[in-house]
Amino acid sequence: MLIAGNWKMFRGPEPAELAVRLAGLDGVDVVVCPPYTRLAACAAAGLRTFAQNVHWADEGAFTGEISAGMLQELGVTGAIVGHSERRQLFGETDETVARRAAHALAAGLAVIACVGELETEREAGATEEVLRRQVSVLEPHPSLVVAYEPVWAIGTGRTATPELAQEAHAFIKSLLDVPVLYGGSVKPENAAGLLAQPDVDGALVGGASLDPDSFLRICLAAR
Ligand code: PGA
Repeated sequence: MLIAGNWKMFRGPEPAELAVRLAGLDGVDVVVCPPYTRLAACAAAGLRTFAQNVHWADEGAFTGEISAGMLQELGVTGAIVGHSERRQLFGETDETVARRAAHALAAGLAVIACVGELETEREAGATEEVLRRQVSVLEPHPSLVVAYEPVWAIGTGRTATPELAQEAHAFIKSLLDVPVLYGGSVKPENAAGLLAQPDVDGALVGGASLDPDSFLRICLAAR
């Protein structure tokens, strides 16, 4: 089980305090994805630390981007790519997601590649078509994990039912044989039910990861 906390553009918990809270948790892999300014502090505190994005070039004239090597210099060991907020608000496409993922994996970073349908796509019966398109650009790799995050469940308090999550996870795994995390309003109250599904291999937690108590409870539910 992998539980990843995506702090988004929030300062988040104090890394050293969080590390103390999470110490001794066995049977679950825990990752934090803080904003760039806190990556070094999280890594220094002994937390397994991923960035929220990574570029495909080693360096270059790409204002606002960051390379795998630069992240590794800080002790970062992985990155999220293709989060729906990147896709929706910052023009990320399947092609750029694929390039980011492939380069990061080749550079030795672990990757959490996010996929998921919009509410309108689900209503139109296009969920599988969308997932197939998003997953088809990814190559299997031992350090690749997919996060299924239905966009209508992110930050909305609406969570997919465990059955609906299971169905989507099984579909994704039929396309690509990698672990699949669930994301979208995961809270201490619903984590156990989601994580009990056979094809749910962990969670990508947004809002609830900003509160160490909630995050710890979700990690405990994963054991
Ligand atoms: P949420 O975010 O848990 O706040 O819905 C999940 C995510 O965006 O990864």
